[in-house]
Amino acid sequence: MEKLSGKDKELIRDSWENLGKNKVPHGIVMFTRLFELDPTLLSLFNYKTKCGVVPECLSSPEFLEHVTKVMLVIDAAVSHLDDLHTLEDFLLNLGKKHQAVGVKTQSFAVVGEALLYMLQCSLGAGYTAALRQAWLNMYSIVVSAMTRGWAKNGEHESN
Ligand code: HEM
Repeated sequence: MEKLSGKDKELIRDSWENLGKNKVPHGIVMFTRLFELDPTLLSLFNYKTKCGVVPECLSSPEFLEHVTKVMLVIDAAVSHLDDLHTLEDFLLNLGKKHQAVGVKTQSFAVVGEALLYMLQCSLGAGYTAALRQAWLNMYSIVVSAMTRGWAKNGEHESN
């Protein structure tokens, strides 16, 4: 796993301090953006309650649970900036699970864009080029492990 610079870690920790206390509202901003960027992703959240359109989906309890889950993974990464490798097995497994539910790896990058959008909305002038890059660096470490797990599951399926 790659490493983050000391400056990256400081920028990420400082910016997450307040955001992390309000995970669900920030997660909703992020996923609303995600569906604007790629509306086809809605169909992957076809829970029992059937979320066919954005407002229905955003208010379904299972969907809100997923929003919380994503935010908790980000929270875990922020808490382990010095030892991100300890999350490797968890992230590999998470990638496998997403392969199994039909999520494409390209969609992880769209979530990354939506994450940056949420940071920009929440941080205003605090959203600097250095901060954006620090978050991108961290998110790409998370996604790289998820993508490796995804690929392993895909190989297993095609055998
Ligand atoms: C477009 C991208 C994504 C889609 C469509 C998607 C969809 C899903 C679906 C359908 C499930 C299974 C049902 C559920 O638990 O709600 C799931 C589980 C989960 N997702 Fe995602 N997901 C995406 C991205 C992410 C990302 C980027 C993260 C974390 C950084 C994440 C974290 C989780 C977690 C923690 C679970 C629960 C896994 C478990 O049951 O152990 N998801 N996701």
